[in-house]
Amino acid sequence: MKEKVYIIGAGHVGAETANELARKDFCDVILIDIVEGMPQGKSLDMTHANPIRYISPNLRGQNDYNGIEDAKVIVITAGVPRKPGMSREELLDTNLKIMKSIIEEIKKKNDKAILIIVTNPLDAMTYTAYKLSGFERERVIGMAGILDSTRLRAFLAMELGVAYEDVSAITLGSHGDLMVPLPKYATVGGIPVTHLLPQEKIDAIVQRTRKAGGEIVSLLKTGSAYYAPGVSVAIMVESIIKDKKRVLPCSVYLKGEYGISDVFVGVPVILGEKGAEKVVEMKLEPDEMEALKKSAEHVRKLQEQIDSKL
Ligand code: APR
Repeated sequence: MKEKVYIIGAGHVGAETANELARKDFCDVILIDIVEGMPQGKSLDMTHANPIRYISPNLRGQNDYNGIEDAKVIVITAGVPRKPGMSREELLDTNLKIMKSIIEEIKKKNDKAILIIVTNPLDAMTYTAYKLSGFERERVIGMAGILDSTRLRAFLAMELGVAYEDVSAITLGSHGDLMVPLPKYATVGGIPVTHLLPQEKIDAIVQRTRKAGGEIVSLLKTGSAYYAPGVSVAIMVESIIKDKKRVLPCSVYLKGEYGISDVFVGVPVILGEKGAEKVVEMKLEPDEMEALKKSAEHVRKLQEQIDSKL
């Protein structure tokens, strides 16, 4: 029997995640939303593509939490997205209420699942899920670093005119303007990007990466990114369910790693069947470490705000 993945919030990001998981065909996918008929309609639509895609995942949509006790992974994308000119932090109050109600529902039925949080402000919402669920830190993981890193990789590939798959790069830190892209470690077919591009071009790409979510929000005008977020979530789910042990940047609760404690921030982790099984510690330069700590302190302030509201 295939593992079951529940996705709460069947909007843009939730549906794209479901579609990507369906395409990969290794798990059953159940979409949950408060809007009646919508998750049912989207999952039926995706099911209609199975014969053409030669795949057979079970896809289902529902408005309640029936069956969630069997979920191996639960992805939470429910919440409001940004509008042009808004910061992710401005979503905090609204999305905090939504996150709280969802975690309460999950806790009633499932205390074994691995939670992947996508709702913004990402690191703060992941903290909320961690705190309210009482799950150990390995099982509450935020999706942001993979998205920020793939954006950096895409911009580098576009600038260099090379195959996207040959560009490797990592972005740490919180999901927002204080993220910490690390171009020094970016490579193209094994060659450091710093050998191929002048520093000012790299700096411009780093800046564009920091603002990439906002660039999409201003173009879309009615919501935020969902294609790249959806596929980013899907590779996390795949690494967990197949126990692939991929090394990917995710938002996790640090307990002394990188000299940071009690805060969610993006760092490389090994993703396997137990969740974020290990934090991988890189040797950062002093300026990079300072940027990571600044990012963590920003999240800590949001966590304090949340503590006062829970
Ligand atoms: N339970 C289940 N679903 C909910 C709940 C709830 N309590 N509250 C809201 N939703 C659903 C909405 O009905 C909607 O279908 O969450 C969905 C959100 O979808 P979109 O509005 O399309 O937003 P999306 O672009 O998917 O972004 C969702 O992810 O990237 C972040 O910043 C983004 O916080 C936002 C979240």
